Amino acid sequence: MGHHAAVWDHRAATEITKDWNGIDQVVLRNPHGASARISLHGGQVISWRNNEQGEELLFTSSKAIFKSPKAMRGGIQICYPQFGDCGSLDQHGFARNKIWVIDDSPPPLHPNESLGKSFVDLLLKPSDEDLKQWPHSFEFRLRVSLGADGDLTLISRVRNINGKPFSFSFAYHSYLSVSDISEVRIEGLETLDYLDNLCRRERFTEQGDALTFESEVDRIYLSSPKVVAVLDHERKRTYVIRKEGLPDTVVWNPWEKKSKTMADFGDEEYKHMLCVDGAAVERPITLKPGEEWTGKLKLSAVPSSFCTDQLELQRKGF
Ligand code: BG6
Repeated sequence: MGHHAAVWDHRAATEITKDWNGIDQVVLRNPHGASARISLHGGQVISWRNNEQGEELLFTSSKAIFKSPKAMRGGIQICYPQFGDCGSLDQHGFARNKIWVIDDSPPPLHPNESLGKSFVDLLLKPSDEDLKQWPHSFEFRLRVSLGADGDLTLISRVRNINGKPFSFSFAYHSYLSVSDISEVRIEGLETLDYLDNLCRRERFTEQGDALTFESEVDRIYLSSPKVVAVLDHERKRTYVIRKEGLPDTVVWNPWEKKSKTMADFGDEEYKHMLCVDGAAVERPITLKPGEEWTGKLKLSAVPSSFCTDQLELQRKGF
């Protein structure tokens, strides 16, 4: 992607480059060699490496199309003001298809969100065209930050600047890179209820132990824990997904048949990705005039020797 280094901001350890469509991308770096790349197209995180070895942790399709107005297949997409496809709005909402701007003076966040981190603040406001689709004025502020430990944090703040209340659903549609989907399992969703997108969102209850994969999965797990772990056995890596303000977890893998129907996705690529999204889908978020909602996602990638008991304790809130 873009290689024309333009500005280097020492204070924030961010660099701005342009992609081949002329759209800005922000590169965050930390002193230990971690990096993240965020496109102003969609406010989409398109790369994340948490250490010097530089292994890419987010999946991007080799057939991804980096061209407006569609979001490119991979990374972390912001799905807003809806997750899914109902009504007249674009599938997964319009936010992922829009050009965001850098927010020079965002309202303050807790100092811990800045301390020792490199970050960028982005802003999306509806255009006249967006207001025709969805007649609600809002300010959507997104902070993406990279911690000293290489962890990636996304904080979304949506403010109602409308005269009337409005409701929305939301997801951080996160394409994790995995070695082989048949070697992957998710811990933390056992015994939960889920809505199955493959059965018109019918409600089921998860049975058995950890979740493993052998066919298409497209589910919204309800009231899921704050911490979920994705274990990649073959690569000996565990993704730890922490979320706040996001009650649901969406899990998606298109598997073989659906992969073949997607123009911007390779036939075999389903083996190397898994979407696990912090989301608010079952119960939309409602904001009264002047109100603000915050939804936070934190991704870590740790060697799988990282004790599962430790995760268990974190899940229970210790
Ligand atoms: C998932 C949905 O999150 O995203 C699926 O649950 C959908 O139903 C998938 O197919 C990809 O959506 P899109 O619009 O990016 O092709």
